[in-house]
Amino acid sequence: MDKTRILLVEDNLSLGAMLGMELKRRGHAVEIAKSGAEAMTKLGAAEYDAVVTDLKLGDLDGLEVLKFAKSKHPRIEVLVMTGHGSIDTAVAAMRAGAFDYLTKPVEPEELNIVLDKAIEHSRLVHEVERLREEVKDKYSFDGIVFSGTPMRKVLDLVSKVAATEATVLIMGESGTGKELIARALHEKSPRRNGAFVAINCGALPEGLLESELFGHVRGAFTGAERNKRGLFEEANGGTLFLDEISETTPGLQVKLLRALQEGEIRRVGDNHPFKVSGRLLAATNKDLTKLVAEGKFREDLYYRLKVFPIELPALRERPEDILPLAEHFLRKAKKKLGGAAVKFSPAAADALRRYRWPGNVRELEHVIERVLIMASGASIAPGDLPPEMLPSAEAAKNDPRETLDDAEKRHILQAIEDCGGNQVAAAKRLGVARNTLWRKLKAYGIPAKKK
Ligand SMILES: Nc1ncnc2c1ncn2[C@@H]1O[C@H](COP(=O)(O)OP(=O)(O)OP(=O)(O)O)[C@@H](O)[C@H]1O
Ligand SMILES: [Mg+2]
Repeated sequence: MDKTRILLVEDNLSLGAMLGMELKRRGHAVEIAKSGAEAMTKLGAAEYDAVVTDLKLGDLDGLEVLKFAKSKHPRIEVLVMTGHGSIDTAVAAMRAGAFDYLTKPVEPEELNIVLDKAIEHSRLVHEVERLREEVKDKYSFDGIVFSGTPMRKVLDLVSKVAATEATVLIMGESGTGKELIARALHEKSPRRNGAFVAINCGALPEGLLESELFGHVRGAFTGAERNKRGLFEEANGGTLFLDEISETTPGLQVKLLRALQEGEIRRVGDNHPFKVSGRLLAATNKDLTKLVAEGKFREDLYYRLKVFPIELPALRERPEDILPLAEHFLRKAKKKLGGAAVKFSPAAADALRRYRWPGNVRELEHVIERVLIMASGASIAPGDLPPEMLPSAEAAKNDPRETLDDAEKRHILQAIEDCGGNQVAAAKRLGVARNTLWRKLKAYGIPAKKK
């Protein structure tokens, strides 16, 4: 390990020399400043791990040295030496961030013990910071909102597989976040500094898709006036994301398979294969096993792609994510569009949670934008939601899945809504004691408002 660099600030020259010698004997790199001004110059010019300073210096207060050291190097450890009986200044020093104080006359052995502790403390702080960063990098996903276990499991998988070179097949209904996950896989991978190249295989006719992916040489077809690099090449050292992979034709599937197996491609109109090094991710909202069974998707390509399958659950399969996502989109939409609404009323939140979300997270995002525009008050009411989402009394009555508890909850929330959020009034209207209402609300996770 490197020597610990210590700045000793002591205007009593013989004491400074004695302590300095002692610290050097212990293997530290020591510099001595004979005044506050000299200490500050040294602190401004070099890095130190620790400062040991007298509190009473000829020119300056040691507290000033302490504060200056901390402002220059927030993680520096400072020990102060104080004269007998000046406990007040010692307390002030501790408040200003000193690690500890020593009372004069300072015993070299005592100084060593306290200094060792300070250095150990500093080492641990560094270590904790480093680990925090590491954990943050590994397990934090910027912009991916979730609260329940299903997505937590998906993200755990993403963390694990990102570091590998494996081809990943992301499956999930439309709007579940497949592209978001593909980007996260890239961002968490060692290729994060390379390009992330995405293409929707369903958006282009076969010929065009082929030349997009593999590139072409001049004269390969009418209009090919010059050589063109394909996306496989663009993604060298990075990640190539093939969205809606089920939409590829059998002819293109053969070429993709070859690219995957050989790690080589040919530009359209060129016979020379060359190596490509992008990592491949693919996504689909179709059931590929079914397409394979029907002969519409090559089985060998399917197995090549799903080396690592990641299945994104539909939003209705993770209802605990709905409200956090809705709140996230509300904040996002407010930044973009302004608007008054800041929260969802309990009944509106309930309607969001109960809706089936066939368009998943994408639909939720759009609904929230629309709602923000429609809502007049600070609180979003069920009436602000699109009508198809409303568990209207009729619809709910006709819903054979509704349990008695659900019906009661819906009725209670509606009553509170009708009473403008006044729970006391709602209890009266429902003909139950307030405490009964509060007990029930508590079971729904809604705080009591006792006014
Ligand atoms: N967990 C999440 N947290 C925050 N935003 C999300 C989350 N999941 C999805 N989104 C957002 O929802 C929208 C749809 O996500 P994305 O485009 O990744 O879905 P998809 O599965 O690729 O959809 P499609 O099948 O329609 O292409 C995007 O705006 C995305 O940022
Ligand atoms: Mg998509």
